[in-house]
Formats: sequence, structure tokens, C-alpha cells
Amino acid sequence: MPTSLKSDLILGIESSCDETAAAILRAPRGILSSIVASQIPIHRRYGGVVPDLAARQHLLAIDTVVKEALEKAGCRFEDLGGVAVTYGPGLVGCLLVGIQVAKAIAYALEIPLASVNHLEGHIRSLFLDRAEVPLPALTLVVSGGHTALYLSRRDDGRYDTLARTRDDAAGEAYDKVARSLGLGYPGGPILDRLARHGDPRRFAFGRPKMSDGSDDFSFSGFKTAVLRHMESTGMRPLEPLDGAGRDPDPTDCAKEMLDLIASFQEGVVDNLVRTTMKVARATRAASIGLAGGVACNSRLREKMAAAGVEIGLPVLTTSFALTTDNAAMIAEAGYRHLLRGETAGLDLGPDPSAVI
Ligand code: KG4
Ligand code: ZN
Repeated sequence: MPTSLKSDLILGIESSCDETAAAILRAPRGILSSIVASQIPIHRRYGGVVPDLAARQHLLAIDTVVKEALEKAGCRFEDLGGVAVTYGPGLVGCLLVGIQVAKAIAYALEIPLASVNHLEGHIRSLFLDRAEVPLPALTLVVSGGHTALYLSRRDDGRYDTLARTRDDAAGEAYDKVARSLGLGYPGGPILDRLARHGDPRRFAFGRPKMSDGSDDFSFSGFKTAVLRHMESTGMRPLEPLDGAGRDPDPTDCAKEMLDLIASFQEGVVDNLVRTTMKVARATRAASIGLAGGVACNSRLREKMAAAGVEIGLPVLTTSFALTTDNAAMIAEAGYRHLLRGETAGLDLGPDPSAVI
């Protein structure tokens, strides 16, 4: 524990999108509690996150979520040594809620505040699970809002962005394809489950290539290919239930639809794995990490692990709870900031399009 911190208990707060989350970390890696209040049921009927509803819901939930995190950890506000909060990227109204609460707590308790980039949080989620991550560490952050490859050469809070999506994030493509097929929100887990019942080689999805030769990703073409296929074959989406998309049994879907889903997934996963391996080789990375909601995908985990074995690199994943949005990863990243003496002032504001 750095001498400047009065205890090694860090409160993490995350409210960048549709999850209100708080966690208590006994630094460096003891997760005493990690509470996540998901807003999925609220946004489901709209087929995506509605920013105003999300911000309002964060306001309603944040006090309870923070209190629950403290209770579950068996500690009081006065025991905390620091507060870490996501300042961006994300939805401005949502970010504001977490930031205001974190600032109020830090001010009232006279403890340091750390402002954490949400993407750094995802990268750091892999450090929560293990004593060591071999460096240089290449991390694929792949979620509903982001798809990018980051290289950490040293454990110093610096990350080089080596590839990013030029259009949709991979999770966004999953969610949009699911919506087109009449499936529910979020679409990723539903498509992942249905894809197991389809033939991934039935339809070929082209491999996007950047005209400038960069390793950047692109996923909007996959979504368009699914739409074109539906149009040209007259494939109809599943009928909605109660105005919302469905999470159907595979037996409720035509074989053609299951094959289309499996082929779409194969194309997306293949793209993610190939690019990651190419960049890993080029940068002489010592490990490959998977973080963000799409990193829960069973096919991605399977193919990346196999590709890692092939090139002799460990592929690191973590539990689903730490892979998707949570506040433990924010507390971990924030603790590192505080160790380096990087504190945020009470003038901290949201940065919806923050990069690292
Ligand atoms: O990291 P996350 O919880 O929130 C963001 O920061 O975006 O990621 C949510 C995204 C959604 O797009 C969801 O459809 C996708 O992750 N997702 C999946 C799976 N589980 C969640 N995508 C593919 N396969 C999954 N199993
Ligand atoms: Zn995220």
C-alpha cells in the first residue's frame, strides 16, 4: 500500500453505459464485492440502450449499488483508501452520475480520486485474476461499443492502440444482426447459443481488408451481408413476442437461419482471431488477453485458445462477470493510478469519446 493511501480498500464505480456497478477491491487483487445492476430489462424492448433512460436509471440505482458493495465487503465508507471512477468513453449523462457520486465520496472522506478510462478498465480486468500477466501483453477489447487491440509493454499504465474498428464494434454487429432476425437484446449471447446448432461453413462471409493495409477491423459488412442474404432469399425475422425480440429455442428457427447465424459468427470470430494473431506476431507479444462482453463468446474463446497454442502464446481470459462491464476492473486500474500518484481533481468531468 502506498503511504499516501490510508487503506488498501478501493471503491470502484462504473456507469458508462447500461450497467450501474460498484466494487470494493482490497488492493491489489482481492475483490471483496462487485455489484452490477443491469438495465437490460429496461432497454430490451427498444432493442438497444436508450441514453436518457439509462442516465435516469443510473441515478435511481447508484446509491443502493454503492451501499450494497460496501455491505457485502463488510466495510464502511470511513474504511476506504481511495475511489476510482470511469470518466469515459461512454454516454455523457451516464458517466456524469458515477463521476458526481465518486467526487462526493472522495471529497467527504478526504481520500484520493482516480479517473479511469473504461477501456483501460477492461484491459486491467485480466490482471485481477492472476499474479502476473506476461508482458508485452496484447489485449483484444471487444464489446458492444469498442473493438480494438492494445499493447501494454510495461506495467506503467501506457497502452499502444494497434488496431481499432473503422465502423461498428463487433458486439454492435451481433446486436444489429440479432435485431434484424427478430431476436432479443443483447443479441450476442443469443446468437452464440443458436450458432452451435448451425453450419458455420454454409455461407462464406468475406474477409474485410483495409485499403491502406492497416490491421484495423471492420464489422458493418458482416451485418450488411446478413441483411442482403435475408432480402435475396426472402428470409423473414422471427415474430416478436410482447413487442420484444425473442430468445428462441433452436428448434423454433429454420435450418437456414441457424446456418446464417453460425456463418456470421464464424466470419466475425475469424476476423478477430486472424488480426489478433498477426499483430501478436508482429509485436512479439508475450501474452494475448480477451476482454469486453464479446470475449464471453464461446467460439471466440475456443478459436483464440487454439490459435494461441499454435503460435505458443498464452491466451488469457477471465470470468464472464469480470469480462463484461463491472466496477472491480475500474478499482484495479484506479489503484494503479493512485500508486503512481495520478489523482483526479474535483473538476473531473465526463469525456464521452475518451481514447487511451
Ligand atoms: O462489455 P459489455 O458488457 O458492454 C460494453 O462495454 O459494450 O459488452 C456488451 C456486448 C453486447 O454487444 C453483447 O451482445 C456482447 O457484448 N456479448 C456477446 C456475448 N455476450 C455478450 N457477443 C457475442 N457472444 C457472446 N456470448
Ligand atoms: Zn465495456
